Amino acid sequence: MSTRHMKATIALGAFLASLTTFSLAQSADATKLYHRGLAATCANCHGTDGKGVVDGGMPLINTLTSEQMLAQLKAFKSGAREGTIMPQLAKGYSDEQLEIIANQLGKK
Ligand code: HEC
Repeated sequence: MSTRHMKATIALGAFLASLTTFSLAQSADATKLYHRGLAATCANCHGTDGKGVVDGGMPLINTLTSEQMLAQLKAFKSGAREGTIMPQLAKGYSDEQLEIIANQLGKK
């Protein structure tokens, strides 16, 4: 291999390494966005970050820890807890998604 080729190879390697770092950073952002996006589907009724809607008449959910919230979401999903909206809604999410949402919205 000529020196010129080697230099080009090293440069290409460095370029590829920087691309990997870039895409890793990007996928971390994408994951964050996905988590926030899932939790945002609850905001219509429960307010942003579960802070409630003034005169919305909906239960406040930012009072629950992530653990308590996940337990309620799973109870809605399994039918153990009855409700008007939440049973159908909770069934639309995988257990993994419910966990992400509960972690996102639960009281820290
Ligand atoms: C269309 C309105 C609506 C949306 C959207 C909605 N909820 Fe609810 N939520 C309710 C209502 C109404 C209740 C009371 C139980 C019932 O009637 O289903 C409730 C109850 C709850 C409770 C129980 C609160 C308690 O004090 O035990 C939790 C937890 C909850 N919701 C979480 C969520 C999460 C998380 C999302 C997003 C995935 C969500 N809700 C989306 C309307 C909604």
